[in-house]
Amino acid sequence: MSTDGTVSADGPVSTDGPVRIGLAGVHGHGRTHVEAALALQRDGRAEIVAVADPRGPGDVPDGVAHFTAAEEMIAAGGLDIVVLSTPIPSHAALAEAALEAGAHVMLEKPPVVSVAAHERLLAVSARTGRAVQVGFQSLASDGVAATAAAAAGIGEIRHIAAVGVWSRSEEYWRRARWSGRRVLDGQVMADGVVTNPLAHAVATALVIAGARGAADVAAVETDLRRANDIDADDTSTVRVRLTGGPDVVAALATTGERRHEPFVLVRGTGGHLIYHYTLDVLSVFADDRPLPRTFHFARTGVLDDLVRHAADGTAVRVPLDATGAFTRVLEEVVAAPAPTAIERFEVHERAGERYRVVPGIGAAMERAAWDGLLLREFDSGIG
Ligand SMILES: NC(=O)c1ccc[n+]([C@@H]2O[C@H](COP(=O)([O-])OP(=O)(O)OC[C@H]3O[C@@H](n4cnc5c(N)ncnc54)[C@H](O)[C@@H]3O)[C@@H](O)[C@H]2O)c1
Repeated sequence: MSTDGTVSADGPVSTDGPVRIGLAGVHGHGRTHVEAALALQRDGRAEIVAVADPRGPGDVPDGVAHFTAAEEMIAAGGLDIVVLSTPIPSHAALAEAALEAGAHVMLEKPPVVSVAAHERLLAVSARTGRAVQVGFQSLASDGVAATAAAAAGIGEIRHIAAVGVWSRSEEYWRRARWSGRRVLDGQVMADGVVTNPLAHAVATALVIAGARGAADVAAVETDLRRANDIDADDTSTVRVRLTGGPDVVAALATTGERRHEPFVLVRGTGGHLIYHYTLDVLSVFADDRPLPRTFHFARTGVLDDLVRHAADGTAVRVPLDATGAFTRVLEEVVAAPAPTAIERFEVHERAGERYRVVPGIGAAMERAAWDGLLLREFDSGIG
């Protein structure tokens, strides 16, 4: 819906009433967007007009148009918002088509896979006057700005870290043809721990560090490793040097014995902060106090927020331009030397799945995060 409810020459016919949503990629993660859209529809704020997926429409209300491809749904027009939860290589072209058709775009992460594509999409968004909201949902929390503000209270910032140790099975890395691939059929898949499973940690840490655009990143140093039979990484440390801010170190693995809650660490000379970005919880550890102070923050759903933008024009919470630094990191991680194979791992079986577990990975990642180091820069015992 346009703010004035008028008919736009190069976009869909806009009327007063609920914001009209079309969703592409409605299975997999896309189902969460369908659920969010259904909730908005129940509230009278939005209407699901169409879905697109070659695997079928999924469970949507009667009367919703179904297309087999996002391209057809976008070309049919009449949408205020297009949700794209399709495979990564499709993002750039589909998002551009949706913007050109006059729709705002809810674009899943990673938004695009190169800085050039990122800048091109930003330009199309600016020219069409339509927003791109990125599916880094942790960035839609009030906790992100609060953590950045709290950093002013812990002295000089030494560095910031994105920390996560998860457990993912061999089956996870075989879930689709592109699983665990850096590049497939000449297209960037970027399905490694830094750029996909724990990408939210990296994106959140960068924004807390004040790095939003690609130009905020001066250099990226990588130490990528893998225990699984994949060509992407599953056990990595990365250091991002910023042009005007502290280093951001990522210490991320999917080869832990069990899932730890991931977090962003801000380490200062007078204390440190732990921000659990999946929970919107900030704990402030000041050196002059024995105990932390812990705060919980509200989060807005990314689609809910974009519907509000479509209705009243207020700025979106996770705009494409806030994720340029992440795209730069992704580009560098995909272009970095191939991950080295970890020889020492165990295989644990749980519920019929096999998990490759790297002994000592939790402690190694904590050390890397705390000291701002890459695995190769200390005796981690990982290899
Ligand atoms: N924000 C998050 O927490 C989160 C979590 C998981 C995945 N994701 C992202 O969501 C996106 C989808 O990931 P997934 O794991 O659900 O993948 P998936 O392969 O399970 O699902 C993608 C869906 O898109 C459909 N599709 C493919 N091409 C299409 C096209 N041209 N038009 C319409 N539909 C098409 C597929 O049939 C499939 O149903 C990726 O960008 C991924 O990184 C985000």
